[in-house]
Amino acid sequence: MDDVLQVIMKRRSVRKFTGEPVPREKIITALKAAMAAPSGMNRQPWSFVVVTNKETVAALCQAHGHAAFGVNAGAVILPFGKKVGEKWFDQDMAAATENLLIALANLGLGATWCGMDDSRQGAIRPLVGLPKDQFVFALIPVGIPAEEKAPRTQYDTKRIHWEAYRPGD
Ligand SMILES: Cc1cc2nc3c(=O)[nH]c(=O)nc-3n(C[C@H](O)[C@H](O)[C@H](O)COP(=O)(O)O)c2cc1C
Repeated sequence: MDDVLQVIMKRRSVRKFTGEPVPREKIITALKAAMAAPSGMNRQPWSFVVVTNKETVAALCQAHGHAAFGVNAGAVILPFGKKVGEKWFDQDMAAATENLLIALANLGLGATWCGMDDSRQGAIRPLVGLPKDQFVFALIPVGIPAEEKAPRTQYDTKRIHWEAYRPGD
């Protein structure tokens, strides 16, 4: 199989980490992949906070509500940006976030996309000094994996409608 397809299927949500630090060079490489993403009118609404300080990593993962597994991750990456007035914000940020995750998997790192909605902003933003006009799109614990997950597709023919939608297809 093509190398890119293999890595896409290798990307799984990894929630167990050794606790070792994540090499900065690898994070930079993954951020280059994130910023290669397409965006509406190429506005690139993304920025990223990268946290490696152990106490802050743990505090962020606890504060999120569904990311406590990440307390001993080597890093947390927070894709963020100004959402107001950016028509394609969610789609652009999702494209960058998925690129980031695929690149991290390719570099042998484990990570999980933890969703951020309006209700979680107030708990996360102050921990990294983000002002209120910035929206944190995801919280991503990153680390050296301490678990292995099998690569897989979730290919399902029932979800495919060739040429046009047919109910019951
Ligand atoms: C928008 C979004 C929000 C998610 N939020 C969480 C989360 O808060 N905590 C968590 O442990 N996993 C979270 N996940 C990871 C999903 O549970 C995971 O992607 C899904 O179970 C499929 O497994 P896989 O990533 O290994 O393919 C989220 C994924 C997405 C795309």
